[in-house]
Amino acid sequence: MTLLKIARLGHPVLLARAAPVVDVRDPAIQTLITDMVETLADVRGRGLAAPQVYRGLRLLIALRLDLETEREKVLALPPLVLANPQLEPRGDEMVSGFEGCLSIPGLRGWVPRHRRIRYRGVDHRGAPVAGEAEGDFARVLQHEIDHLDGILYLDRLKSAADLAFDSDVHHLEARTSNAG
Ligand code: NI
Repeated sequence: MTLLKIARLGHPVLLARAAPVVDVRDPAIQTLITDMVETLADVRGRGLAAPQVYRGLRLLIALRLDLETEREKVLALPPLVLANPQLEPRGDEMVSGFEGCLSIPGLRGWVPRHRRIRYRGVDHRGAPVAGEAEGDFARVLQHEIDHLDGILYLDRLKSAADLAFDSDVHHLEARTSNAG
């Protein structure tokens, strides 16, 4: 078991466009996937992109928040693995929600995202995979795919007023819930 170090805000790997994965079945990529899955579970995150572990590759993992099951069970399931993902919004509807990022510890933001998306890519076996996502799952996928393009959720904030430290996020929650 190898837990990977997570790159933090300021490291250039988080700002670069990642390169396509040539062959998901390459043993080095398989090891990277295994290590990313273990690292995500260890930090209790919802998603992780390869640039966050200093690998500039178009590869992400995300908890299966699409499945109609309890959070405890989702945590026990293997995450979705997506290499070379592509994303397409379904409709114009945007929805704001709270996001954090393992590379930006201690902060939360109120971030607008597409409510529904369609995604496709290649799974951990190298097979094509496609699906639709909405709500939290769509949010996580948009957040992780952004990482592959060097985009952080900070770039998606409407205003710096939509950012707070964890210890002060209740102020932001109060304001955003008043706004509906
Ligand atoms: Ni992130």
